[in-house]
Amino acid sequence: MGTTSTPAYDAHADWYEGYISGSGDYLRRVHATVADLLGAGEGRCLDICCGTGAHAPVLTGLGWTPVGVDLSGGQLRHARGRLPAARGDAGALPVADASLPAAMCVLASTDLPDYPAVLREVARVLRPGGRFVHMGVHPCFVGAFADWSKHPRVVVDARYADRSHSFDSWNVTGVRVRVGAWHIPISDLVNATVDAGLRLVRVVEAGRGGVPDLLGLLAIRDR
Ligand SMILES: C[S@@+](CC[C@H](N)C(=O)[O-])C[C@H]1O[C@@H](n2cnc3c(N)ncnc32)[C@H](O)[C@@H]1O
Repeated sequence: MGTTSTPAYDAHADWYEGYISGSGDYLRRVHATVADLLGAGEGRCLDICCGTGAHAPVLTGLGWTPVGVDLSGGQLRHARGRLPAARGDAGALPVADASLPAAMCVLASTDLPDYPAVLREVARVLRPGGRFVHMGVHPCFVGAFADWSKHPRVVVDARYADRSHSFDSWNVTGVRVRVGAWHIPISDLVNATVDAGLRLVRVVEAGRGGVPDLLGLLAIRDR
């Protein structure tokens, strides 16, 4: 389906490895939310857009067997020290139908121009009863439309409705100014999850200072 034609992260993989490993409290919150939503289990959990594999230890700690897929060979170079991982497109997962008990996609929805297509792939590869965790930047409060420079006051503007790809950012230290980001309003995200045939069972918001910067969803592939 061609979610993206160029592995944009190839040029930034060494930077990303240091960025995500050094992201301290943020990474701890991501991991705590993933653990809370996914819970303990057995069997393979596919980390879609696994990047450098930073979340593999969380999956292992919960009892899952992590396996990854990512488009970027540069990212996979780092990931392969942490989990078995293959090069592949999230929009055409190299995985058989109804074969997985669990999958997750963490901090990557904004890298994908057609996240609804990825959610349909998730529904295809999950077994009945299988779990899917979406974890991403909070679509209401993080994006080209949000200025965090006066945190805890966060200013959101009319670009919230703009779904296009953008490099605009209130700061110059993150992923957004390097590779840009897509934006999915929260209604689009929830509706796409449900439309893919996944049953939404839990929502978690996480953040500092009252304004959440992360949103996590747990959805189940019904029988
Ligand atoms: C911000 S990084 C997140 C990586 C990892 N999930 C994490 O939380 O650290 C986004 C990742 O999505 C990957 N990606 C982007 N488009 C993709 C696609 N169509 N299929 C698979 N991976 C993709 C990139 O190569 C990159 O590693």
